[in-house]
Amino acid sequence: MTLSSTTPRPLVAGNWKMNGLSAALDEARAVAAALDQKPAAARVAIFPSALLLHRLAETVEGGAVLVGAQDCHGKASGAHTGDVSAEMVVDAGGTMVIVGHSERRTDHAETCAQVAGKVEAALAAGLEPIVCVGEPLEKREAGQAVTYVVEQIRNSLPASLTGQAFNVAYEPIWAIGTGHVASIDNIVEMHAAIRAELVAKFGEQGKVTPILYGGSVKPDNAREILAAAEVGGALVGGASLKAKDFLAIIEAA
Ligand code: 13P
Repeated sequence: MTLSSTTPRPLVAGNWKMNGLSAALDEARAVAAALDQKPAAARVAIFPSALLLHRLAETVEGGAVLVGAQDCHGKASGAHTGDVSAEMVVDAGGTMVIVGHSERRTDHAETCAQVAGKVEAALAAGLEPIVCVGEPLEKREAGQAVTYVVEQIRNSLPASLTGQAFNVAYEPIWAIGTGHVASIDNIVEMHAAIRAELVAKFGEQGKVTPILYGGSVKPDNAREILAAAEVGGALVGGASLKAKDFLAIIEAA
């Protein structure tokens, strides 16, 4: 998807991770119905398991909820047992994909170079990527968080993103699923550093690329986080599983 506007709407994205069986489609249906009644200022996307993606896409078809995958392979097709290609995501009704989530970098030892390859594959298939970065606790404690994340940005974002719609998500690993949300000062400092790197890399486009924050975003802290400088949306895990909580976060954007 190519860029069409200079100031994108905020993006509130729900990453269901390895959660959600068929019954969870009701939550997506409830989110879609609420947005139908009262359109949100933000763009809204849900990233269910790969197995639920097709049905979820059919469930919310024609409404405001976008649908995406939590990962895609760097190759278009081939002998890669258990993997899903970007084209398969599109075929199933997805328009977006999360790449480089810290859980994949950790669980599957994904490198920045592999993440960049996945971004290329996503773009080739016409998907809008959300590229995740974020430091582990030891880098934060050693005062190396910004250097670490800027390096991830440098190595995970291929030049082919130029002119393409994409998003970055800053998710400090120690804030994911822990209830320990990063301080607003931490968020503002990191988002400013990411913005500077995006501008250095992509010029004018880098000035408006949405930078999402993720890590224990909840209904009670979303408004403050989303109002912080250079925060262009939220990537929400646990609180995206229930329509009521997710809608409260969407409202805050
Ligand atoms: P939590 O909101 O559960 O902390 O997860 C954040 C995340 O990793 C979203 O991708």
